[in-house]
Amino acid sequence: MTANELRKKYIDFFVSKGHAHISGASLIPENDPTVLFTTAGMHPLVPYILGQEHPAGNMLTDYQKCIRTGDIDSVGDSHHLTFFEMLGNWSLGAYFKKEAISWSYEFMTKELGLDPDSISVTVFAGDDEVPADEESASIWQSLGIPRERIYFLPREDNWWGPAGETGPCGPDTEMFIDTGKPKCGLDCRPGCHCGKYIEIWNDVLMQYRKNADGTFVEMERKCIDTGMGLERTTAMLEGKKSVYETELFTPLIQAVGKLSGYTYLSDEKKDNSVRIICDHIKASVFIMGDVRGMAPSNVGQGYILRRLIRRAVRHGRNLGIEGGFLSGLAEVVIGMYRDFYPELSERRDFVIENLNAEEAKFSEALSKGEKEFDKVITGMLRGSSRTIGGRVAFKLYDTYGFPIELTMELAAERGFDVDVKGFEEAFQKHQEVSRAGAEQQFKGGLADNSEMTTALHTATHLMHQALCDVLGGYVKQLGSNITAERLRFDFNHDRPVTPEELKKIEDIVNTQIQRDLPVTCDVMSLEEAHQKGAFAQFDAKYGEQVKVYSIGDYSKEVCGGPHVEHTGTMGHFRIVKEQSSSAGVRRIKAVLEK
Ligand code: ALA
Repeated sequence: MTANELRKKYIDFFVSKGHAHISGASLIPENDPTVLFTTAGMHPLVPYILGQEHPAGNMLTDYQKCIRTGDIDSVGDSHHLTFFEMLGNWSLGAYFKKEAISWSYEFMTKELGLDPDSISVTVFAGDDEVPADEESASIWQSLGIPRERIYFLPREDNWWGPAGETGPCGPDTEMFIDTGKPKCGLDCRPGCHCGKYIEIWNDVLMQYRKNADGTFVEMERKCIDTGMGLERTTAMLEGKKSVYETELFTPLIQAVGKLSGYTYLSDEKKDNSVRIICDHIKASVFIMGDVRGMAPSNVGQGYILRRLIRRAVRHGRNLGIEGGFLSGLAEVVIGMYRDFYPELSERRDFVIENLNAEEAKFSEALSKGEKEFDKVITGMLRGSSRTIGGRVAFKLYDTYGFPIELTMELAAERGFDVDVKGFEEAFQKHQEVSRAGAEQQFKGGLADNSEMTTALHTATHLMHQALCDVLGGYVKQLGSNITAERLRFDFNHDRPVTPEELKKIEDIVNTQIQRDLPVTCDVMSLEEAHQKGAFAQFDAKYGEQVKVYSIGDYSKEVCGGPHVEHTGTMGHFRIVKEQSSSAGVRRIKAVLEK
């Protein structure tokens, strides 16, 4: 079955069950500063799941274009994708588990013709707050899935939401196809990444409302949100080992083959480059060709787009492609998808113009930059350090247009890493000098230097100390990202932070803000900073001078700044979200309100 047939079959099936076929939304979410792109079919429907009435009714189905940026650096292997499509069906208080699961089963076995014996499912195992989802398990059993292929998994695997601190949430049940490969070990099960089990569909069963006091109550108006991955399911139905072997990629792979003279699947490293080019050009065309599409830039979605295009150009050179080649590939993408996404043809000129301009701008600098990079590596090979300095990375950025992620990738290929912190410092220093980059923004911790981001940066330090005070001294920063709207902070902690703990953390931060503490900065060696008890997230080199910011007597941290001068100006600190980020890692989002 082709992808186009699958898309149509899915929609027709759910329409036959009484769903309204609605249009997918833009890739660029409206009014949602927390994400850059639409990441799931559910995303644009959140207001309706939360209770608003949908104009098309309470049973909906669609296909949605999605982009997930967390995996860009993993793209190149045979399964990661930046752009993908999600098929979905929703119940906004209309039907619940029995119908959702039965229809999933009917669609998989009758419409897709999957062997019932190849299907395994997962359900929520239950914990101290919410009981196990026995109801879903028994529905699966009644349909013929034996108990031994129903896996009960914990919250990290089988739970969704709430979208904020409170609101609708619930267990989910995921469907996997057994590829027939042997288990990779005794604990191999659905969700294991060895390739035995392929997840094709997720039914989210929004059964509860989480209240501000942390309790979960059964909702009157229960909702269903499902998502089936189009690319993966197509690969599975066509018996292909990889999404790149399906017709969703083969026309692009053939076009790259013509341009480069390289035959796909004859050299592992080159295959990697082929896949990167195909994935990135597709994602780029969809970003520029969206109704809210934009051109490459140094901020937000535009910066992701710039990274994708520049990375594709570099991998084109790796394959020996000379001159501009991306617009030809863009035409292939537009041709492949024009029937389902007419906006791509409508915006063709904009796509091609911007692609050509960005490619030309970068191509010129790329070979010079790579030469410069080679010189740096050759020089460093004589010494013992394997960390490329921040100033060098900044020069590659400033003179040759190398996004920091590209420098990191080049470095990793040679077994080096990059002093990202030093890069950010050099970047900031440059901004101070040129005063030109006020609206420049980097993902990965560094935002602009506006009043708000500066205050949020100081709030991050206060919250880090407060987390240690409330949860334990072991809490360490694993990631930070600040925009003009909010801070985001990832840290090691192996269970959800309770509402009481969150309240304590908020109160501590607000107390320190009210004390109007002065913020001071001292330069010292890393060892001295450690001796003084300063937190340090980045591994500065032995003996290196670092800046230590102190907030009164409350916090001390190695950091590049900038920070407020006095905490009294910061406003009121509020945590808006606490969630799992990955195994053993929690994520907090917080805001400052005037
Ligand atoms: N929203 C659900 C997911 O992304 C279906 O898996």
